[in-house]
Amino acid sequence: MSRLVCVSNRITLPRKTAAAGGLAVGVLAAMRVEGGLWFGWSGDVAAEPAAQPAIVSRDGIDYATIDLTQTQYDRYYRGFCNTTLWPLFHYLTDRFRYDHEWHEGYRDVNRRFAERLLPLLRPDDRIWVHDYHLIPLARELRALGARQRIGFFLHIPFPHLEVLRLLPPYADLVRNLAQYDLIGFQTAADEQSFHAGLAGVFPEGAPQVKTGSFPIGVDVDGVIAEASAAMRTEPVKRMIAGLIGRRLMIGVDRLDYSKGLVERFTAYQRFLERHATHRGRLIYLQIAPLSRDDIQAYAAIREALEQATGRTNGRFADTDWTPLRYLNKNFPHGTLMGFMRAAQVGIVTPLRDGMNLVAKEFVAAQDPADPGALILSSLAGAARELDGAVIVNPYDLRGVAQAVETSLAMPLAERQARHSAMLATLRGNDLKAWYTNFLAALSAGV
Ligand code: F6P
Repeated sequence: MSRLVCVSNRITLPRKTAAAGGLAVGVLAAMRVEGGLWFGWSGDVAAEPAAQPAIVSRDGIDYATIDLTQTQYDRYYRGFCNTTLWPLFHYLTDRFRYDHEWHEGYRDVNRRFAERLLPLLRPDDRIWVHDYHLIPLARELRALGARQRIGFFLHIPFPHLEVLRLLPPYADLVRNLAQYDLIGFQTAADEQSFHAGLAGVFPEGAPQVKTGSFPIGVDVDGVIAEASAAMRTEPVKRMIAGLIGRRLMIGVDRLDYSKGLVERFTAYQRFLERHATHRGRLIYLQIAPLSRDDIQAYAAIREALEQATGRTNGRFADTDWTPLRYLNKNFPHGTLMGFMRAAQVGIVTPLRDGMNLVAKEFVAAQDPADPGALILSSLAGAARELDGAVIVNPYDLRGVAQAVETSLAMPLAERQARHSAMLATLRGNDLKAWYTNFLAALSAGV
């Protein structure tokens, strides 16, 4: 079997705390089974990045990393990746900004990745590139003479053509994607949007590009084992003791404006306004580790959430009850799974999301005998699979407030039926299926 080479902007280095996000979890799972090389950014900025990647080997995986200069970080990561592509691909066009220099920086870093990766490649490697940071990488590698099969997986949504067209170099982006031997998307809808983009860029006939939808999943048995084991650990026992018999609603999201947290907090306030009987009886725990916090839009959302928390607690809290517990800290994965198992409601309401693994983890973490209910945004990729969730439009604040009430009132038999249907879906489309199916399609050729 030929070697697997994964390339992503963020990588999970051994002995560093796991990077937040599904990408790091998914790629690590594939690399643990397949072994191989994982190439990416070290997470560090250096005045003069070394000419050679730093290489660390652990448990059959070689991790090769490069640093970025401050200018590259500013233009490529903060600029084009996270202030241009991120909001645009999530349909949040009011947050979208474009700067020609950022685009130059994006191309420059992709060229740099290709130059540093090329000497490490073997002729029969399978190369798997991940996410929006690295769309031009296949073209750059090909320009340097790489002939290996190169696949690409987009972890975030792919926008409709009329949204994509807001980006001045959108045609370049589509042409660069067409250089891959296989492009994987989270959902069939994203795949269709890409083909619409392709037809828009090549009106006289689009090139043949092999695409597929490969919804990323979770390691179901791994989550079940983690969640059950976590119930016996101190942090989870302490959290449950702190509820003193009250019910728990939980949200776990990177602190990102695409996650719909401000809307969610407002909807919760509406819920408390309208359903006075639940006051004093429900605690909403929102865990939101900081993310990309040196980008202005992220700093602004943080402030808005702090204000919303203060408003809700100031208005509704009592001497012995705080309705909203909002934490910016991160927890070990197992502890999070335990918190989820202890909750009666999981709330996942992104304004747009490629997939959302938190929704899937919440389902897998539940006790099948007494499972919690999941509230899920119709605009998350996961909603296309998890039809046993209480599906909401995250902009519909009254609808979200009503969904909280519906979830809390849901009879046991209904919760069990919804949970077992969703668990069966998760098993059919788990994390192993994601990478196995993608890699099989990449090896199969056109
Ligand atoms: O899944 C989307 C994604 O942008 C990944 O590419 C990334 O690793 C993760 O979210 C976390 O974001 P960041 O790497 O910018 O901290």
